[in-house]
Amino acid sequence: MIGVFDSGVGGMSILRVLRKVLPRENFIYLADQAHVPYGPRPLLEVRHFSEQITRALLAQGVDLIVVACNTASAAALHYLRATFPDTPFVGMEPAVKPAAEHTHSGVVGVLATPATFQGKLYASVVERFAQGVTILQDTCAGLVEQIEAGALDAPATRAILERALSPMLAQNIDTIVLGCTHYPFVRPLIEEIAGPQVRVIDPAPAIARQTAHLLGQYHLGETGAPTGGIRYVTTGGAASFGAAVRRLMGESTPEILTWHWQEDDASLSP
Ligand code: DGL
Repeated sequence: MIGVFDSGVGGMSILRVLRKVLPRENFIYLADQAHVPYGPRPLLEVRHFSEQITRALLAQGVDLIVVACNTASAAALHYLRATFPDTPFVGMEPAVKPAAEHTHSGVVGVLATPATFQGKLYASVVERFAQGVTILQDTCAGLVEQIEAGALDAPATRAILERALSPMLAQNIDTIVLGCTHYPFVRPLIEEIAGPQVRVIDPAPAIARQTAHLLGQYHLGETGAPTGGIRYVTTGGAASFGAAVRRLMGESTPEILTWHWQEDDASLSP
């Protein structure tokens, strides 16, 4: 079984592709909606949440974990690999490399959270792959909250994106990197604002390929007929999460579970 987690609904932009590429696998998807958004929080706090979520997922018997959150990957990926050396992890990093390879104008826009921009992972990706390319960044303040609320096409959502993208477009970007897993859900709006000459990069297919590769390498893949099921878990409210799963994953009757953070030791128990 594969564990997938994010601060909220964003990781479902990865899960929907994982499900297509790996139809035999069983998934457990955890949305830490008790703490969303992660982006404005200190990296150490996000690392702590990520560790507790990892422990809870491992207790459920997952063999591999996809950290379907750029912020949690920035805060915790190295730490998780060192702390749980027997578990393969797939993590996110903003897709600066393919963007730098494909840009013609030499100007690339990256949309990600404040914590992702602060992390060493992002700095190292820019240093390694974006030499000679101008990178323009924006944190799209408030956008994660709009997506959590299901306001994918609301005037306020459009206003956030127009404010972020207008200065980038004025500086001739031809590529936009979606550096937060929530943002693929507003891709139609981003494409409408940016126009057809701007290419938008969603890392989900590359993450799914990497997951398939690791499953093979560790001999963890399910064989036999496609039976893959998904259990959806939230640390927040089950009703609103269920509505989001129906809307974003097209599931008619998803199984929704709630897990609780224990106030005394800040651990997570199913
Ligand atoms: N979806 C997340 C990411 O990829 C986190 C967004 C947030 O909680 O701020 O960064």
